[in-house]
Amino acid sequence: SISGPGEPITLDIATPLAPTRMPTTRRYLMCPPTYFTVEYAINPWMDPTQPTSTSLAVEQWTALKETYERLGHQVDVIEPVVGLPDMVFSANSGTVIDGRVLGSRFRASQRSAEADHFRRWFLGAGYKSVVMPTAVNEAEGDFTWTGSLLLAGTGFRTDPHAHSEAQEVLGVPVVSLQLVDPRFYHLDVALFMLDDQSPSPLVAYYPEAFSPGSQAVLKRLFPDAVIANDDDAVCLGLNAVSDGKHVVMPVEATHLAEQVARRGFEPVFVDISELRKSGGGPKCCTMELRG
Ligand code: ARG
Repeated sequence: SISGPGEPITLDIATPLAPTRMPTTRRYLMCPPTYFTVEYAINPWMDPTQPTSTSLAVEQWTALKETYERLGHQVDVIEPVVGLPDMVFSANSGTVIDGRVLGSRFRASQRSAEADHFRRWFLGAGYKSVVMPTAVNEAEGDFTWTGSLLLAGTGFRTDPHAHSEAQEVLGVPVVSLQLVDPRFYHLDVALFMLDDQSPSPLVAYYPEAFSPGSQAVLKRLFPDAVIANDDDAVCLGLNAVSDGKHVVMPVEATHLAEQVARRGFEPVFVDISELRKSGGGPKCCTMELRG
């Protein structure tokens, strides 16, 4: 309804008041799934007895890369390595903030060799400050930069000591969060940033993936967050990538897509069914190079 001067303004609840979202150009590092397969099980999604198709994984990955490029982002590519089927999940191999790199140290022996390939990529790409962690640290799998805080997951992969190490190396305040559901073994399958540019960052998360204390922390930090439901979580819908406007997300995450659209974002769907057999989605395949 229209109010006269001095009268309280009554908002029609049905009127969408979503702000206009502005994308910012990103730079991502990706690794093609040339040698993708599921031959060991290090999370509950992985079943080596189920067939996988490397060519379908490559097709889906290529569509994801082209989606980023179409949105105007720069995608750098690292050479895949034979015998490292999970190397496609580049997000697990580095946390880059303001041009400083903190590399990774994997919990599973099957993935440990990936860390050094990425370390050498960073050096080759001209990064001056590249530090390898001493504690188990699965990088952007468990670290999410809000623009001012580094949210840090633990419980399944990244060691809590890696959190303080990240704070020292990257010089950013770290907030530790406890993951409790083995299906959501990394922070990036339980939470993602919708907007990491504005002074009040906007996140989306699935509360049940976190301990009660960590849920309370998230509520306190982000009272305005988009809350995902079970359906969103089990298709790895939280493993999404936002540029501040476009949200690249698994096509099955329809409820989450509706929630983010209500907040003024534009969902961009991708099919990641093959990569999900390894417990990964769009974000797992995407390391953000900041600065
Ligand atoms: N199979 C991989 C693993 O279990 C999947 C990693 C997914 N990456 C991620 N950022 N959540 O390590």
